[in-house]
Amino acid sequence: MANAHPHSGKLGGHNLTVVHNGIIENFAAIKAELLPHGATFMSETDTEVIPFALANALEHSAKTLAQAVHAVNGKFHGHYAFVVMKQGDATRMVGTRRGAPLCVGLGEGANYLVSDPLALAGITSRFMYLEDGDVVVITPKTVEITDENGKPAKRAVKVVDQSADMAGKMGYRHFMLKEINEQPAVVSRVLQAHTNSSTMLPALPLGKLALGKVPFINIVACGTAYYAGLVGKYYLEQLARVPVNVDVASEFRYRNPPYVPGGLFIAVSQSGETADTLAALQHAKAAGQHTLLLTNVPTSTMARTADTVVNLLAEREIAVASTKAFMAMITTLALLALQLAQARGMASADVAGHVAHLRTLPTILTSLITEMSHEKGTLAQLAERLQEAKSMLYLGRGSLAPMALEGALKMKEISYIHSEGYASGEMKHGPIALVDKELVVVNLAASHDGLFEKTISNLKEVEARHGQIVLMTDAAGANQLRESGQVHSGMVVVEIPAVPQALLPMAFAVPLQLLAYFTATMKGTDVDQPRNLAKSVTVE
Ligand code: M6R
Repeated sequence: MANAHPHSGKLGGHNLTVVHNGIIENFAAIKAELLPHGATFMSETDTEVIPFALANALEHSAKTLAQAVHAVNGKFHGHYAFVVMKQGDATRMVGTRRGAPLCVGLGEGANYLVSDPLALAGITSRFMYLEDGDVVVITPKTVEITDENGKPAKRAVKVVDQSADMAGKMGYRHFMLKEINEQPAVVSRVLQAHTNSSTMLPALPLGKLALGKVPFINIVACGTAYYAGLVGKYYLEQLARVPVNVDVASEFRYRNPPYVPGGLFIAVSQSGETADTLAALQHAKAAGQHTLLLTNVPTSTMARTADTVVNLLAEREIAVASTKAFMAMITTLALLALQLAQARGMASADVAGHVAHLRTLPTILTSLITEMSHEKGTLAQLAERLQEAKSMLYLGRGSLAPMALEGALKMKEISYIHSEGYASGEMKHGPIALVDKELVVVNLAASHDGLFEKTISNLKEVEARHGQIVLMTDAAGANQLRESGQVHSGMVVVEIPAVPQALLPMAFAVPLQLLAYFTATMKGTDVDQPRNLAKSVTVE
């Protein structure tokens, strides 16, 4: 199980070892109850409470370890999964889940308990996904499941194709670089699966969802998926003219938001296991909203919860820093916006015209990645300078405002350089106070979005305070600056090919990802598994 360390506890004649994911929220109260029974704790962790609570249940009421697990499930509060073994009995494991993921891997003469099928890539492709409150007992030859009420239960066997996971890094130095390079193929796959090649119209599998009638949309997600949601808001509002709210899942779930009757709730999650997004999805579903999930893992807990699921088709993303899944998210959201626009009256020819633009993306991304990955190119040279940077500010307008947030997140999570993203217009409202000769300001600007002049005036303000300027813009923008004599020696200009406005987020994603990647590799950080981070955040 991800990030889990075994803890043992002995009480009476029961010596148990537990591996645990998640949080037992009331562990302090449980601990206080167990102390008078002779439990001696060696740590301050919630995990250590589990073996003692189980041993105590076996001492007093439970006849089997499975019964003891059911008993403690009735006492524990929180979001967790754990697996327990009796010391001296290596042939039997008991597991349970409440919120956090746990599944049974079915092997040849061996069974396994894992939080993520990825752990068993190359060992088995057959899995049973446990439901909340389930308790499972496995031996090498048997699997017995009881549901939350202790009644025998059967869970379907799903086949998870993990061939892509086993392909390894395919010669790339890091999974992140491999995944950046996979983006053209991911976009092709999404467009092929979700557009009609003869009519050129979007064809996302949305079942009975009555798109034409949707009055309001909530998009809820975390981290990079949240930034994809912000890009999605831009598409949905611009193309389909539907009002959209985008929220980080942790805020949404606790705000108890009022829902618009008949509204659509969209959860976006690469893993489909993020605890806060899952809880928000459950909240919206319970409130009667139609829940649509965009996920890369169609067997995930969220996929088993949502009314409608759209597969992001990015294939397994292994690097903690999300790249290709983000690309799949924003491409899918663009298609969703077009499908919605069509349902609300946009002429088919116009919709097809937008899809035709999207279809140029794989080629654009391929040449962008090739050009920008060059070891002696502008990005690599810039990254060399950034190794010493202490602080960075990313700015963008329109659909590039969320890309500024995403660029800053990519940079901070893998290079550990403090980076903040802001909508450019906000600079004067606070961040400008940070500008000095140490601060690197990365401006994202398209020359044809009607906002370029404003970007130039932002740049002048940074320049006047001796900030280090990086401008990511298209050739026309770069020329405009050069012709007006405004490119100064210290300014770095990263040129991006001119693309239709709707493709700006996808085109800018590549240099932002590669800049973070190059900087991190030059600094020597652990690119694929940065410190303190997990690929899927299954606890709050
Ligand atoms: O699996 P999810 O898409 O729900 O994950 C959400 C975030 O945890 C994730 O995007 C995180 O921010 C990434 N490390 C960003 O690169």
